[in-house]
Amino acid sequence: MRRIIIDCDPGHDDAIAILLALAHPDKFKIEGITTVGGNHNVDKITDNLLKLLTLVDKDIKVAKGAKSPLVCPLVTGEEAHGGTGMDGHNLSDIKFKPIAKGAVEFMKDIITEASEKITLIAIGPLTNIAMLFSTFPEVKEKVELISLMGGGINEGNKTAAAEFNIYVDPEAAKIVFDSGIPIVMSGLDVTNKAQMYYTEFKRLKGKGKVSAFVNDLLDFYSIFSRKFGYDKGSALHDPCAIAYLLNPDIFTAKKYHIDIETTGTVTRGMTVADRRKLPEGRLNANVLLDLDREAFVNMIFNALDILDTECNS
Ligand code: RIB
Ligand code: CA
Repeated sequence: MRRIIIDCDPGHDDAIAILLALAHPDKFKIEGITTVGGNHNVDKITDNLLKLLTLVDKDIKVAKGAKSPLVCPLVTGEEAHGGTGMDGHNLSDIKFKPIAKGAVEFMKDIITEASEKITLIAIGPLTNIAMLFSTFPEVKEKVELISLMGGGINEGNKTAAAEFNIYVDPEAAKIVFDSGIPIVMSGLDVTNKAQMYYTEFKRLKGKGKVSAFVNDLLDFYSIFSRKFGYDKGSALHDPCAIAYLLNPDIFTAKKYHIDIETTGTVTRGMTVADRRKLPEGRLNANVLLDLDREAFVNMIFNALDILDTECNS
C-alpha cells in the first residue's frame, strides 16, 4: 500500500488520473488531494475536483494551493480545457468542501506525521511542491518518490521547447528537480503515445455514470486533440504518473540528469536532458520514453469498470 498525495489542476486528464488512483484502494492510500493554478485558476480547479469527488462519493481531504506560479503570472490551459478548466461534463453537485489549511501546510503535516514515507503525485504545475520543499525542507527526507507528469526531453507542447506544467512554473520545477528526491518523469515522450484512440471511446458508452462522465470529458478534449494534430486519439498525459506506479512493466524508461531552463526566451520551461555519461548519483529522474498503449488503455477501462460497479451498487 503506497501512501500518496496527489497535487493536480483538473483538468480532463487529471480527472482520469485521479479516477485511476481511486479505483485501486488496495494499492494507494490517498492521504489527500491538493490543487494548484494551471489549466485554470485554482478556484475553478478546486471546484472541478470537488465535483469529481462528489460524482464518485469519495470524501478525501482537499486542500487548495497556489493561485499563481512562484515568479510569473499564471498562464492557463484554457485553450485545451475550456472556460471551466474541465469543460464537457454536466456535473454541478458539490457535497464536499476543502479543508481550511492550505495545500503546503496540509502536505507538510501529512508527511511529518506519517509513520512511513509518502509518494507525491504531481500532475499540474509544480508550484505547491516547490513551496513545500522551500518552506519545510525537512520533509524531503520523508518523501519516497515524486511521480510527475511534466516536461519532455525531445518535445514541447506549450512552446516548441516546453511542456505546459513546466512552462507555467519553471522556477518551481527547478526546485523540484534539484531536490534530490527520486523522480519518475512522465514527459511528453511517453504521454503523447499514451493515447486513447477515438475508435475506443465507444467502449465508454452504456457502462455507468463514471464512464459516461469520462466519455463527456473526452468528447470535449478530443476537439482540442484533433485541432493540434492528434489524428488517432487523445493523449492521456496525467494518468501515466499513476499507471507507472500500478504497473511499471508496461513502460520503458531511462535515467537522465534533467535540468530546467528558467532564463531562456525561446527555451524557458525546457526540461534539458544531459545525454553525456554521468555518475549514477547525478541522474535525478527516471524518464519514461515508451509504453504498451493497449495495456495502458485497458488499465483505464478496468478502473472505470470498478468505479461504475461501485457507484451503481
Ligand atoms: O502538458 C500536459 C499537462 O498540461 C497535463 O497535466 C494537463 O492536465 C495540462 O495541465
Ligand atoms: Ca494536469
